[in-house]
Amino acid sequence: MSKSVKFTSGQFFVAVHRLARWFEHQRRILPWRNDPSVYRVWVSEIMLQQTQVVTVVPYFERFMTHYPTLDALTAASEADVLKLWAGLGYYSRARNLYRAAKIFVENGFPKSRAEWLEVPGIGDYTAGAILSIALDQPEPILDGNVERVISRVRRTSDRARLRRLSRAFVETSFRRGIRPSVANQALMELGATVCSPRQPHCGKCPLFDICHACAAGDAEQFPESKKRKEWIAIQEELHCIFGEDGRVLLREREPGEWRAGLWDLIEPRALDKSRSAKTALTPMGTVQTRHIVTRHKILRTTHVWKAEKKGIHLRVKSSRWVSIHTPEVAVGAALQRTLNRIREKFPEVSRLN
Ligand code: ADE
Repeated sequence: MSKSVKFTSGQFFVAVHRLARWFEHQRRILPWRNDPSVYRVWVSEIMLQQTQVVTVVPYFERFMTHYPTLDALTAASEADVLKLWAGLGYYSRARNLYRAAKIFVENGFPKSRAEWLEVPGIGDYTAGAILSIALDQPEPILDGNVERVISRVRRTSDRARLRRLSRAFVETSFRRGIRPSVANQALMELGATVCSPRQPHCGKCPLFDICHACAAGDAEQFPESKKRKEWIAIQEELHCIFGEDGRVLLREREPGEWRAGLWDLIEPRALDKSRSAKTALTPMGTVQTRHIVTRHKILRTTHVWKAEKKGIHLRVKSSRWVSIHTPEVAVGAALQRTLNRIREKFPEVSRLN
């Protein structure tokens, strides 16, 4: 049986101030939260797109060590930036970040939502996050965490209404003296740590007394889940060739290809073009690895070969022989996992370099 919840606007503001205090005391220490400059918040928000906080933290710290300022970032090459990004996934983010940096260094950072939305790689959520967190502008954000909190407080899954509520929340909090950086991050943090998708910790929630779903005891039902993901199956076939010195042949993916700018093993067509070289290769076996990228389920089958002769000549464009342990080029998560599996399965040959 659900209790009805009625609260006055006075009650609402008491709860919002309680939320802000809760955030000041309970927030996680995250590197982009000390010194939230536009540069640091922008980089962190791009990294946090589709990626969890725990994964991002070491990448963000490493990135700031190498590129502490916009000038440092623009002085680097795109290949260097991709190398630091390697393993974080969704590499178009790094390419867009680099493109945007070149624009910012000329024109300065954008100042309004409309200007941010023109920047490569910036959508509604990221624009709102940068404006509110770095510049304390009362701009709304609506990521999955915020959506869940508001959806439960108001017991609605109506997306248009949630959008209006997220704006009303930050604007009215601002009028009541709560900084947008605190108001928005408090909601995000609450969603990430207390108002979890399953078994939310309503007993620890600073909004418990204004939350309709908490009172009704059906918080887990909100927001209603969106349509189930439709998976796309992809099969990749690759060749890993160990040279006689134990190094492996990688190829840089070209602009327009999937994972452009990253390095990967070579495809069958490259090997087919070098028939003569193929005769100098001894097959060692095959490894399979699986990866998920957005809606794609990828199965990679890699045939492993060993070159017995010195100076094997394979005509593969933009290729390079690298150490399997420290490739020193931009390597994505898919290749990293493939190389790890190959090292496990063929320790003798992997030990050579
Ligand atoms: N997820 C997206 N943006 C975030 C932020 N600024 N802090 C924590 N988690 C986030």
